[in-house]
Amino acid sequence: AAHKREVWSGRSVFIMAAIGSAVGLGNIWRFPYIAYENGGGAFLIPYLVALLTAGIPLLFVDYAMGHKFRGSPPLAFRRLSRGSEFIGWWQVLICFVIGVYYAVIIAWAACYTFFSVTEAWGDSPEEFFMGDFLHVDGESSFGMSFVPGVAWPLLLVWVATLVVLALGVQRGIGNANRIFVPLLVVLFGALVVQALLLDGASVGLDAFFTPNWEALTDTGVWIAAYAQIFFSLSVAFGIMITYSSYLKRKTNLTGSGLVVGFSNSSFEVLAGIGVFSALGFMAQAQGVAVDEVVAGGIGLAFIAFPTIVSQMPGGPIFGVLFFGSLVFAGFTSLISILQVTIAAFQDKTGLGKVPAVLTIGGASAIVSLLLFPTTTGLNTLDVVDRFANQFGIVGVAFVAIIVIAWILRRLPELRDHLNSVSSFKVGLGWQIFVGVITPVVLGYMLFSEIRDRIDEGYGGLPDDLVTVFGWGVQVAVIVLAVAMSFVPWRRGIEDEFELDE
Ligand code: PHE
Ligand code: NA
Repeated sequence: AAHKREVWSGRSVFIMAAIGSAVGLGNIWRFPYIAYENGGGAFLIPYLVALLTAGIPLLFVDYAMGHKFRGSPPLAFRRLSRGSEFIGWWQVLICFVIGVYYAVIIAWAACYTFFSVTEAWGDSPEEFFMGDFLHVDGESSFGMSFVPGVAWPLLLVWVATLVVLALGVQRGIGNANRIFVPLLVVLFGALVVQALLLDGASVGLDAFFTPNWEALTDTGVWIAAYAQIFFSLSVAFGIMITYSSYLKRKTNLTGSGLVVGFSNSSFEVLAGIGVFSALGFMAQAQGVAVDEVVAGGIGLAFIAFPTIVSQMPGGPIFGVLFFGSLVFAGFTSLISILQVTIAAFQDKTGLGKVPAVLTIGGASAIVSLLLFPTTTGLNTLDVVDRFANQFGIVGVAFVAIIVIAWILRRLPELRDHLNSVSSFKVGLGWQIFVGVITPVVLGYMLFSEIRDRIDEGYGGLPDDLVTVFGWGVQVAVIVLAVAMSFVPWRRGIEDEFELDE
């Protein structure tokens, strides 16, 4: 065919890229907190069950879709069945939305890597973050007051991202992951060692690992485990379909999935150890219980960690290791998100790589630069993130599984595809995990999230903000996804893939 699809040079570079995508901010700042809040050491049981009964099985679905149908999500779904193309676009548009704000957090972390050297936050990290750094305006919902100290670093993040993407799948994405993933492991490994040597580390680890067995009888804990696994593996919203579409025909898919799934979880547990050692130190230094200093997300990274850096011996080194890790972990995830949108656009239009990067990547950069480095950007980011993750990702995963497993009844076909190339064979168990357990859990998560957001709004933030950047964005994404599925493909591509080889 005229349009030759790019390929990875081998399986190991694909595995590296898939690990780079999966290991992200969620491993570092989300897992430790979620585990602590949901039973500590006992959480590892539901977590492992979720990994084995949903995370890895869904990863196999993504791999089978991308590898069998050799396309970005819309093309893969289109080739699966004409009517399911909109699911692919829904995934693509969610990736677009996530990409525009994910870059912002990387830009913050890059700034904090430098701030760590001089401990620029002085003795009040919180005031520094909200005031001197972000200039947060707590009064308005929308605003266009730019904060240059964030805008310039964000521009650099976008330039770096687009350069990697323009270099292509193997030369750009493959090589970036071959460098950054090992570098991340080294940096983060050094951080964990330094954290373990801190006074009070054992107090933190006790708090983290002490099992609360009663948690196992709580449905909420089980849901939290599945939610963490879905989020952390980035399954079922297009990334792994895209990456596996560049694999050579004969590739051991399930073997790769097992490596990726377990690597991601190992990194999470390692992060739990590093983060709680550091929190134990902070609690001890302040003479309070660990419970009082535990945080997750932005609060952990940009308020608690700077405090720790200021209080510990060798703080600047620790800060550089921590924020540097966030940058590398985030960057390899960001390129994977962006590649989904670019690949889809290329497949649909037949446009070359560089023009596609410039238009779609450029558009992402512009939206990102207009919305987030502003005095109202923090709240906007918070709302967009919440709805994209708890509504968008969960919703599209739920619909995709229902359509693949129940409406089209294509799991046997995907199973045969996996087994025809892979060492680790899947069978009825896999079909039950994917077809029954996963949709039940996703459906429950989706409907309870919708109910709670309708009843309570979100995080005490103004209703207009939640309406526009929460519901509004997610509804627009779905409408646009359906519309995109009516736009014609470049001639013949929907059907030409059989001829590829
Ligand atoms: N799964 C990644 C994490 O654990 C985050 C991520 C989100 C990656 C979206 C890609 C796309 O942090
Ligand atoms: Na992850």
